[in-house]
Amino acid sequence: MTYTVAQLQAEIARRAPWYQCISFPQHGIATTDNAANAMLDGAWDNKTDHNTIEEAARLRPRPKWDAIGTFLPSVQGLEVLEIGSNCGFFSFEFARRGAKSVTGLDVAPKWLENAEWARAVLGFDNVRFFNCDFMRYDGLPQPAPGLLSNSDWQIPLPDRQFDLVFMSTVLDHLFFPLFAIYKMCRISRRWVVIDVPAADVPADESMARLSVAADQSHHGFTFSPKFLTTYIGRLGIPATDIQTRIYNGGRNVSYIVDVRRFSQGLQGA
Ligand SMILES: C[S@@+](CC[C@H](N)C(=O)[O-])C[C@H]1O[C@@H](n2cnc3c(N)ncnc32)[C@H](O)[C@@H]1O
Repeated sequence: MTYTVAQLQAEIARRAPWYQCISFPQHGIATTDNAANAMLDGAWDNKTDHNTIEEAARLRPRPKWDAIGTFLPSVQGLEVLEIGSNCGFFSFEFARRGAKSVTGLDVAPKWLENAEWARAVLGFDNVRFFNCDFMRYDGLPQPAPGLLSNSDWQIPLPDRQFDLVFMSTVLDHLFFPLFAIYKMCRISRRWVVIDVPAADVPADESMARLSVAADQSHHGFTFSPKFLTTYIGRLGIPATDIQTRIYNGGRNVSYIVDVRRFSQGLQGA
């Protein structure tokens, strides 16, 4: 369907709230131009010295992209997997940068429906979205939806299916974050990129912190860079293949892991 600007604005409002600011360059508007359409929670992962916490939520994740976009590996011609793709922001940016294909996964149907709608409006034929828990993701063309539960007897561990696997502000909210890193290292052929908050955790100390929301709706792990790089190294990836990019005054960190020398022969349990 072709939209006029007024029709697009009406559809954006109907689909609110928007967790991400998705731009429609041909129409000259974005999903969160009107603050009433934005999810105005504490967007600390997009807070910088130059914005307020409300601006961070309205622009999310543009402030982060402006920083990490300068040091991410090239995605030109690559098959990319984004885990926790939400409304599609990073998936669309990877497509703009010349990715051969982008697969976005998200466990929340509402975000995925908005992502799929925006994808169709933007005309990205090489981007596809699946409603799926990453832990259950098997890389098949039609992965099974649903949350990981104790009724699952097998957790798929596909090998080497994408060139670059990307995850932004998701690892910290998972129940099994270390296992997710292992799965990412297996499912990638070349790069794993993990971006997480790092505020108030000393880079040179080996530690992890777990905080739980008062209403129990979610939790956040904060790992020190030393902890995570030691863990990734323990999986069998040489330290020289793990880049740690601390940015935004120490509030955020990206781990860029070259998994080509990843050894799958783990010892021990
Ligand atoms: C804090 S948001 C971050 C969204 C986006 N990556 C960004 O940085 O703007 C976390 C996202 O991950 C999704 N998510 C959480 N657990 C997931 C899982 N196990 N598998 C797939 N998606 C998940 C959530 O639904 C949500 O869209």
